[in-house]
Amino acid sequence: MSRVDEDAKKWRRDVGLNSLFSNTRPAIPRILALLPLAASLTALSICLPPDLRPLALRSCGIGLGAYLTTVHLVPVISKKIPRSKFGCDLLKRPPRLQIDNKDKTIPESLGLVSGVVFVLALVISDAIEADHVVDAHTLAAATLAIALAILLGFADDILDLEWRYKYALPPLMALPLLAAYSGGTVIRPPVLVRRYLTETKLGDVADYLLKLVGGSVVPEAMGLVDLGRAYQVSDSEQKMNLNLTWSRRWRRCGAASRRRRRRGRQRIYMVLLVVFCTNAVNIYAGVNGLECGQVYVIACAILAMAAIELQHDRSENYTLSIVFLPPFIATTLALLRSNWYPARVFVGDTFTNYAGMALAVVAILGHFPVMLLLLMAPQLINFLVSIPQLFKLRPCPRHRLPTYDERTGLLRCSYVNDRVKITENDGMNLTLINVVLRLKPMTEPALAATLLVLQALCCALALFLRFGWAGGIY
Ligand code: UD1
Ligand code: MG
Repeated sequence: MSRVDEDAKKWRRDVGLNSLFSNTRPAIPRILALLPLAASLTALSICLPPDLRPLALRSCGIGLGAYLTTVHLVPVISKKIPRSKFGCDLLKRPPRLQIDNKDKTIPESLGLVSGVVFVLALVISDAIEADHVVDAHTLAAATLAIALAILLGFADDILDLEWRYKYALPPLMALPLLAAYSGGTVIRPPVLVRRYLTETKLGDVADYLLKLVGGSVVPEAMGLVDLGRAYQVSDSEQKMNLNLTWSRRWRRCGAASRRRRRRGRQRIYMVLLVVFCTNAVNIYAGVNGLECGQVYVIACAILAMAAIELQHDRSENYTLSIVFLPPFIATTLALLRSNWYPARVFVGDTFTNYAGMALAVVAILGHFPVMLLLLMAPQLINFLVSIPQLFKLRPCPRHRLPTYDERTGLLRCSYVNDRVKITENDGMNLTLINVVLRLKPMTEPALAATLLVLQALCCALALFLRFGWAGGIY
C-alpha cells in the first residue's frame, strides 16, 4: 500500500471520524436530524383542524411502517448489489489517485429500496384514503409518476446515461402528472398585486384582458385571479370520474390525457419544474448524507406549510401533502441513516430522480411551485452558479466534487483546468459546495451538516416570508 494511501486512511480515521458530526459521535447528528421532523410534527399537531387529524395519524402510521421496512431492507439489499455496481467514496481519498476496482467499496443505487417502499406506502394510502379526502385519480397519477421516476433513475444508474438523455427523461416521467392535473384556474397573487387589483383601475384592465381567455379578477374575492384557459381545464371532468369503477376511470383517464396533452403548451412550467427539481437535487450531491438530507429538510418544511395552510384553506391542494409526505419523509430518513458519514450505501440517481419528482409532484398538485423554488433556494443558487459548466461555457469534469486534502484531512474547493483535469488552482469548479469550502475548509460530515443547516435556514426564511412577515407575502 502506498504512503499516500496510508495517509488518507489515517486522516479519515483521525479527522473525519472524530468530527462532531461523524457517526462515532451519534448524538449530535441524530438530534440535528430529528429537528426538522419534530418541527413539522409540531405544526401538524397544533395547526391541523380536528377532523383532519385522523388522516394525519393514519399517514404517520403508514410512514412509521415504511421507515421500519426501509431500515430493515437497506442492509439486506445492499449485500445483494453486484460488485460491478459499487462506487468509490471520492471524498475519502486524494483526487490524483487512479480509481481501481478495489476502491469501489460502497454499494450504489440504494434509493431503489426507499423508492419502492415509498411507492408501496402510497398504494396503501391510495386504498385507504381514496376519494375520502383526496381524489383517487390524482393520487394514482402521482404514484405512477414516482414509480416511473424510480424506473428511469435506476436505468440511469445501470446504463450511466449521457446528460442529453438525463434532460429528456423528466418530461416523460411527468406525463402521468400532466394527464391527471386538473387544478382550479384561480391563483392567489402576492398581497401587493392583490391590492393593486382591488384598489386601482388596473383591476378593470386585468379583468377585461382575462375575460378574453375565459377568466376574470374574481369578484368579491379580494384580488384572487381566475386565469381561465390561460391556466387550463375545468375540473368538472375529473369530478365526474369519481363515480366510476377503476377500469373505466383509467380508460377515461387515457382519453382525457390525450385531450389534455393537446393543451400541453400551457403546462410547460410543470415540465420545467420536474426537470429542475430532479436535476437540481442530482447536481447538489456527492457529499455523504447531502442527497437525502436536503430532500428530507425540504419535505419537512412543506409538511409544516401544508399543516399551517389547512387551518384556513381546506382544499385538496394541501390534504394531498398530508397523505403524500409522511411516508416520503420516513423512507428518506431511513436511507439517510445508512448514507450519513461514513456512508455505508450510496443513494444513486435512482434517489435523486424520484425525490426531485416527489417534491415537484406535491408542488404542482398543491399549486405552490413558486414556494417550492423558495424552499429550494440552495439548489437554485447551486444551479445558477453551475450554469457556465453545465452549458459547457467552462470545462466541466465528470465529478465537480471538492478535493480531499490528505495533509490536513479537510475538504477544500476543487479547481479544473482547460484540459478538464482537476488541478491545484486554475478555475474553480462552480458549485455552492465549493463556494462554502472556499470560505472555510472542513471535514466531510461538518460540510454536510453545514449545508443542511443552510437548507433549514432557507426553508425557515421561506416559511417566514409566507406566514410571518406582516401576514406574509401571500
Ligand atoms: C453529479 C454531479 C457531479 C457529482 C456527482 C456526485 C454535475 C454536473 N454532476 O453527477 O459533479 O460529482 O453528481 O453525486 O454537477 N459519491 C461520493 N460520495 C457521496 C455520493 C456520491 O463520492 O456521498 C460519488 C461516488 O463515486 C458515486 C458517484 O459520486 O459513485 C455518483 O455519481 P453520479 O450520481 O453518477 O454523478 P452524476 O449524477 O452524473
Ligand atoms: Mg447523481
